[in-house]
Amino acid sequence: MENYNIPEIARNVFWVGVKDWNRRMFDALIPLPQGTSYNAYLVKGEKKTALIDTVNPGFEEEFEQKINLVSDLKKLDYLIMNHAEPDHSSAILYIMDRAPESVLVTTERGMKMAGLYHELPEGRVKVVAEGGSLDLGGKTLRFIEAPWLHWPETMFTYLPEDKVLFPCDFFGAHTAQGVYDEDVEDLILLAKRYYGEIMMPFSKMGAKALEKIKGLDIEIIAPSHGPIYKNPERILEPYAKWTAGGTENKALIVYVSMWGSTREMVSVIAETLLKEGIDVRMYDLAVSDIGDVARELVDSRAIILGAPTVLAGMHPLALYGTYLVKALKPPARYGVVLGSFGWGGGALRQAGDILTPSSMEIVGTHQVKGRAKDEDLKKIEEIGRQLAEKMKN
Ligand code: FEO
Repeated sequence: MENYNIPEIARNVFWVGVKDWNRRMFDALIPLPQGTSYNAYLVKGEKKTALIDTVNPGFEEEFEQKINLVSDLKKLDYLIMNHAEPDHSSAILYIMDRAPESVLVTTERGMKMAGLYHELPEGRVKVVAEGGSLDLGGKTLRFIEAPWLHWPETMFTYLPEDKVLFPCDFFGAHTAQGVYDEDVEDLILLAKRYYGEIMMPFSKMGAKALEKIKGLDIEIIAPSHGPIYKNPERILEPYAKWTAGGTENKALIVYVSMWGSTREMVSVIAETLLKEGIDVRMYDLAVSDIGDVARELVDSRAIILGAPTVLAGMHPLALYGTYLVKALKPPARYGVVLGSFGWGGGALRQAGDILTPSSMEIVGTHQVKGRAKDEDLKKIEEIGRQLAEKMKN
């Protein structure tokens, strides 16, 4: 095919990535309602040419064709690997087989991590470290180590002459739509969801990376998923807030209900919080997109978990939700656990076991047998008022 859209994002810097319009799941965990893109970039200097990252398995031929439309793959000099996860690195051998003089450029940790997944071309790896650079002739690639964003080996590449930052997964969004940030109306919501799913567990490392790039003159941010930012502040500002753990006056309620008891309990606390002026977001885990929950976790100040007991423990969906809340390390400061059971409890104890090591203060818990009675509902209202008081203070 010859009619591919290959945007020149800066002078002699081309997007040669691919769009995966129909992918609906990532890592067998993250739903992708709008698909995703695997962005790769070709940088042509006066003397040398470099490719930054590759693409997901299955897109190698399209990738090769795109590179050949703006350059000659056979003459590629460098393949920069910012990150070893296979969605960006799986075509390394495919590309290097077709570019016999090319050298893979990555960090020490990158080389080790990539070696776990791929056979690397012997004698054709150049290891770089923080501050290292490559001169392409009129274009310089500078390397910035940015570990844990979101694997231990990740690095950013910076092109000072054109003021372009290539941060790989960081600042990304899972959507196949658009080329530039201004093309996608709900981009920051998508970026927030992506941050919650992928970067939030590493928020401290994210804050460190932001500090590292603070002094760089950046006009374009070209991540490895989703649109390219021509307006870097659009994503730098929310990332500064998210990585700092800033929260809103917002309570996230996630629950499961089998016969309506737990639903009634969480509804009572929702109404109490709303009356107290707290923003409430409620998700039934049986029918919700977990990516929406991850997005809300990014800046919710409180999390309310509603979990019925099934066979002496939490309902499996509530267990999954609780585990995710713990694993994603959201900045929420307060928690409440509500639950119901028929003949023997267990859900609250199990939720407590999972959540207790986190820094979240559990403001209240309440469990009912069967349906909530008037005194139960009053107790839940009281917990709601206490929670609102803490959130507002
Ligand atoms: Fe898009 Fe961590 O890979």
